[in-house]
Amino acid sequence: MAFPESVRLVEVGPRDGLQNEPDPIATATKLDLIDRLAGAGHRHIEAASFVSPKWVPQMADHRPVMQALMQEGKARHGVTYSALTPNLKGLEAAIECGVTEVAVFGAASESFSHKNINCSIAESLDRFAPVVERAQAEGIRVRGYVSCVLGCPYEGDIAPEAVAAVSRALDQMGCYEVSLGDTIGTGTPLAAKRMLEAVARDVPIERLAAHFHDTYGQALANLVAVLEEGVAVIDASVAGLGGCPYAKGASGNVATEDVVYLLNGLGIKTPVDLARIAAVGDWITKEIRRPNRSKASVAVAAAGER
Ligand code: HMG
Ligand code: MG
Repeated sequence: MAFPESVRLVEVGPRDGLQNEPDPIATATKLDLIDRLAGAGHRHIEAASFVSPKWVPQMADHRPVMQALMQEGKARHGVTYSALTPNLKGLEAAIECGVTEVAVFGAASESFSHKNINCSIAESLDRFAPVVERAQAEGIRVRGYVSCVLGCPYEGDIAPEAVAAVSRALDQMGCYEVSLGDTIGTGTPLAAKRMLEAVARDVPIERLAAHFHDTYGQALANLVAVLEEGVAVIDASVAGLGGCPYAKGASGNVATEDVVYLLNGLGIKTPVDLARIAAVGDWITKEIRRPNRSKASVAVAAAGER
């Protein structure tokens, strides 16, 4: 199969990228980051999580973040700002803030599901169904995540069929798209291709997204493997920020800058500008004192200095 003509990028830096930061980051800094990401061309930014502040303290300011983004006139034209909602309590809060898109997040591993959202896979699906129904009644779009699609920190290998079963359930529930998460970044290209083939038997490839973390440096190679299969939606985090609080040792998502560089090289269209997103990565890593994990960003900065 040929590469897609264009790719839709979902910037998860403000959520996945920051959720694991131990020191509180000011709400104003998060909003500044989100504004800069939109300025670099992003059209879909995952901005917050309506989760328990006891579980993920860094996302405790979900209300002020989303209220500010949803204020009339503040939201940039055409940009979707989405948020995670694990249950009805989260969704009700998101509705109060005027959120127009949410995401439910499940897993293909029982152990990870318990550690991350404190319930079994079956219980999580029972919990998500009314969330999707209520969201749809409000005209809110719902995205679905499946974690541990290429390995679990507690169970090791995960069968592609297990990923397919949860993806199918989310799709049938009404999620407009299912994002496949290599939560701990252990995947390699052939495994990614096989997993995708299994899922695509049940869910059309047009409704699938790749959400790959880069712990073992395989994320770009894995992306090429699934792009070749026709996946045209990629989640990425500026400067490769992030990690999952319930997946010890996992590093951030593939860096947005590196994905943009890859797509440019493949002649695949994306609205995000490399120089601008590299500048955002440079700024946020200095703000929160983290290393910039994007090789493309470091190279762009070095080329600028020559
Ligand atoms: P629980 O303890 O089973 O929930 O947690 P509960 O219903 O028994 O409630 C316990 C307390 O939490 C109560 O407060 C509730 O009010 C409160 P208390 O009475 O103790 O003061 N609570 C909430 N507060 C705010 N917002 C809510 C909410 N729900 C309950 N929505 C729960 C269940 C799902 C809430 C919890 O496990 C949780 O918040 N988990 C979130 C974990 C998380 O955010 N993980 C990271 C995101 S997932 C990820 O990174 C993977 C992804 O990137 C894809 C990939 O890479 O694979 C998406
Ligand atoms: Mg993730």
